[in-house]
Amino acid sequence: MRLGVNIDHVATLRQARRTFEPNPVFAALIAQQVGADQITLHLREDRRHIQDRDLELIKELVSIPVNLEMAPTEEMKSIALRIKPHRVTLVPEKREEITTEGGLDAVSLKSFLSEYIKPFKESGIEVSLFVDPEISQVKASADVGADAVELHTGEFANLWNAFKFKEAHRELERLKSAAKLGRDLGLRVYAGHGLTYQNVKEILKLYPLVEELNIGHSIIANAVIWGFERAVREMVEILKKAKTEGR
Ligand code: PXP
Repeated sequence: MRLGVNIDHVATLRQARRTFEPNPVFAALIAQQVGADQITLHLREDRRHIQDRDLELIKELVSIPVNLEMAPTEEMKSIALRIKPHRVTLVPEKREEITTEGGLDAVSLKSFLSEYIKPFKESGIEVSLFVDPEISQVKASADVGADAVELHTGEFANLWNAFKFKEAHRELERLKSAAKLGRDLGLRVYAGHGLTYQNVKEILKLYPLVEELNIGHSIIANAVIWGFERAVREMVEILKKAKTEGR
């Protein structure tokens, strides 16, 4: 299973003091060096963590794919078309939220999204929609012409972390059905949000339907204790098991 390391929270720590350290650009380069398959970052409208300059430098310096998470706004569209990341992942954004709460409502935004994503496709930028693992959302994502969906694993993670394993397994089944449908409709399927060194082991069961996970908070949180290299390397090792065991 491929790993996208989300480095937003390196910038969160820096912005806590509006200083120059820790530097998310260094983090991206180290993550690449120790085996990450992709760098994921979210340029939020309020710039609470990643800044425009971080994105520019990361795109220039890293040689693995860059996945830019962004709200589907005109400002973000023009930034993304200028920087040209490998992929954009469209996410809903609310100013008051602590982190991205639900998936994008591709069903109600269908006609808007069909138009919004066209220039990305024309520029050769992959378009992924971050959606809840619902049949209707996956179908709508295919209908609007997205290349991929990233399935929201937040609900699964919350249940698992609360030791509600029966309910977590039900959510895992929902993720699996959504992933299967996505693949049948010709979409690439990724997943992420709320994954940790513990609960990610369950998500590996979705491989190869799900080919990539984007993980941020848990890696950065553990990096504070273990060091960043070790935190990334350990997650890379866990995800590799999905490949070798062919689950
Ligand atoms: N995927 C998407 C689309 C996200 O918005 C986020 C959070 O920025 C993540 C993955 C990573 O989530 P976490 O930080 O909980 O691992």
